[in-house]
Amino acid sequence: MSDLEQTLSIIKPDAVQRNLDLQIKEIFVNNGFKIVREKKIQITKSEAEQFYKVHETKPFYSDLCNYLSSGPIVVMILEKNGAVLANREIMGATNPSEAKEGTIRKKFGISIDKNSVHGSDSVENAKIEINFFFKD
Ligand code: CMP
Repeated sequence: MSDLEQTLSIIKPDAVQRNLDLQIKEIFVNNGFKIVREKKIQITKSEAEQFYKVHETKPFYSDLCNYLSSGPIVVMILEKNGAVLANREIMGATNPSEAKEGTIRKKFGISIDKNSVHGSDSVENAKIEINFFFKD
């Protein structure tokens, strides 16, 4: 059995704007995640640039940071056994058009940019991302 883990989840501006945050949180809870902490915030472009620093050399970096800072987001610490991988499975592929039936991005994602949710990609990055939003 996998270890109890925490991962960072973000409900992105496209989903918050369409009032999908409650439905998305319900999907996490129904799949056994505990929402340990959560807050609805709007970040600045420079905060988005820090958060997505690993993508700074990518051609989509600037658009990505403009987008994440374009409206309110909901950031959450999710906890369960094997949370990092379980969250990635429930989110589905980055591009909603490639995401499997039943995943959050298949259900709600609009495009590769407006793909409704972000989730940490490793236990190590989860710690960094959780600390970015929840320092205390
Ligand atoms: P996310 O999981 O938040 O991590 C980085 C984001 O960059 C990703 O979701 C996408 O929304 C966005 N993105 C835009 N273009 C691309 C691309 N070509 N490949 C990967 N991610 C992309």
